Amino acid sequence: MYRTNTCGELNMANIDQTVTLAGWVQKTREMGGMTFVDLRDRYGITQLVFNREVDAPLCEEANKLGREYVIQVTGEVKERFNKNKNIPTGDIEIIVSELKVLNAAAVPPFTIEDDTDGGDDIRMKYRYLDLRRNAVRTNLELRHKMTIEVRRYLDGLRFMEVETPVLISSTPEGARDFIVPSRMNPGQFYALPQSPQTFKQLLMVSGFDRYFQIVKCFRDEDLRADRQPEFTQIDCEMSFVEQEDILNTFEGLSKHLFKSILDLDINEPFGRISWHDAMKYYGSDKPDTRFDMRFVELMDILKGHGFVVFDNAEYIGGICAKGAATYTRKQLDGLTDFVKRPQIGAKGMVYARVEADGSVKSSVDKFYSQETLQQMKEAFGAEPGDLILILSGEDMMKTRKQLNELRLEVGNQLGLRDKNKFSCLWVVDFPLFEWSEEDERFYAMHHPFTAPKPEDIALLDTDPGAVRANAYDMVINGVEVGGGSIRIHDSELQQRMFQLLGFTPEKAQEQFGFLMNAFKYGAPPHGGIAYGLDRWVSLFAGLDSIRDCIAFPKNNSGRDVMIDAPGTVDQAQLDELNIVIDIKE
Ligand code: AMO
Repeated sequence: MYRTNTCGELNMANIDQTVTLAGWVQKTREMGGMTFVDLRDRYGITQLVFNREVDAPLCEEANKLGREYVIQVTGEVKERFNKNKNIPTGDIEIIVSELKVLNAAAVPPFTIEDDTDGGDDIRMKYRYLDLRRNAVRTNLELRHKMTIEVRRYLDGLRFMEVETPVLISSTPEGARDFIVPSRMNPGQFYALPQSPQTFKQLLMVSGFDRYFQIVKCFRDEDLRADRQPEFTQIDCEMSFVEQEDILNTFEGLSKHLFKSILDLDINEPFGRISWHDAMKYYGSDKPDTRFDMRFVELMDILKGHGFVVFDNAEYIGGICAKGAATYTRKQLDGLTDFVKRPQIGAKGMVYARVEADGSVKSSVDKFYSQETLQQMKEAFGAEPGDLILILSGEDMMKTRKQLNELRLEVGNQLGLRDKNKFSCLWVVDFPLFEWSEEDERFYAMHHPFTAPKPEDIALLDTDPGAVRANAYDMVINGVEVGGGSIRIHDSELQQRMFQLLGFTPEKAQEQFGFLMNAFKYGAPPHGGIAYGLDRWVSLFAGLDSIRDCIAFPKNNSGRDVMIDAPGTVDQAQLDELNIVIDIKE
């Protein structure tokens, strides 16, 4: 037996027991004829003691141990003189009588401590060492617990986990596919699934009525803190349901996760907001509702007073930061610089303070009478001490997005985005289509299988852009943690949808014939949702990036620097696949 106990469990109840432990040497130190070794494994750290007076050769051996050596020790559990209240094993130590080096270790490229000296790149290159650190390991433990709870909850509701293939053909979800050449079918490619969307719908046709799968999905899109090229979905689908049934079921799953993982009771129902209102009041389809600070539109009040910037604007909107009138000129300039950053792109920012006497002082005072400024104050319901920040622009959508960035930044500055506070929201009534000026065509806002709202179906012929979908996103603290829809289950309506999306009947048949055919054989009404597991874990762990809850993530260029992927392949392998590389400049 390599060990009788782990390094995280011995305490006063084990005093005088003889135990055997195995693990990694975190550090060694010599003090007055004694050598102390911190022995670490996944479960914790236990202090080992080697006493020169009792066994000098053994103590010598201990002095030679390097960091990260793998050792096995046997010894007696004794009460510690200097107790360490910070760790569960801090009351005891092991007086070692036997030591065996199981494996020596090279000096690690960074210290394996909570506060490591290793930068991001080096830790990614040696990710297996990084994973020995508490911070990273606990994120993976949390992830594990969440998947267990998801399975427990969904199994309790008679959902069945079914695996779907990874080598498939392209499913259109809006991102690029990763493709895989087929040796046996020269010139042909599989695509890795962006999600198991069509398969889960086919499983509904097969009668599986409640499906889920914790599944890897692949999307070749630009990476951000909340996006990885391969990520994990908790993918779900249900038959004989309406939107309300799905929202209730998955609100239930979410509340179960909050309770079982964080011991948090979310008693009130999740908030709901239409996509239209989310854009109007927050400039985002994933508003952070931990704080209010809704947009107020000011076109009626501020246009036509001779301030050219506003007079020429299609949209003028502002936010009111409670109690922030104390912002200094420097802080306000900082915010102006923030919105002018190229990635945000505003031209400038106007501010107004509500003074103690209720009067309003603004950066554009000369264009506006106090009466107009008072009207503006009323529109915000602003009070003495409040700060109003205004952006304007020629494009309403763009300006709203800029104002959203400003709102989030001000929220950060005022400490309104507490990571331990959760605000859960459903965004509903998404538009079915999105018009692309560039391609002069409609794209499905969610995906082509999403059902229009029954009351909007007539608009498909007259005003497709106005059709709303039975689609919903779950948003927590401004993060889209899940999204789904009620699906079209009628092959004719599905065909009509493809037509509106610019597919010829032949192309639709070629790409989705299997689905439309399946729908002819008795497709139940169905709908579903997929959660982004990585985002859920990050949210619960308070992480800034989903990378930190993935064992072996990719970097921002989509590379795995540890295994050095992607890489080139041998010419022979390319020949076998009939692939010629021709890199354009
Ligand atoms: P959607 O594309 O909205 O829907 O994806 C569902 C959820 O997956 C997460 N997600 C991601 N997480 C990390 N990295 C990424 N690159 C990434 N892309 C998406 C998000 C998102 O809410 N088939 C549909 C679901 C359905 O209709 O049932 C789908 O994939 O949290």
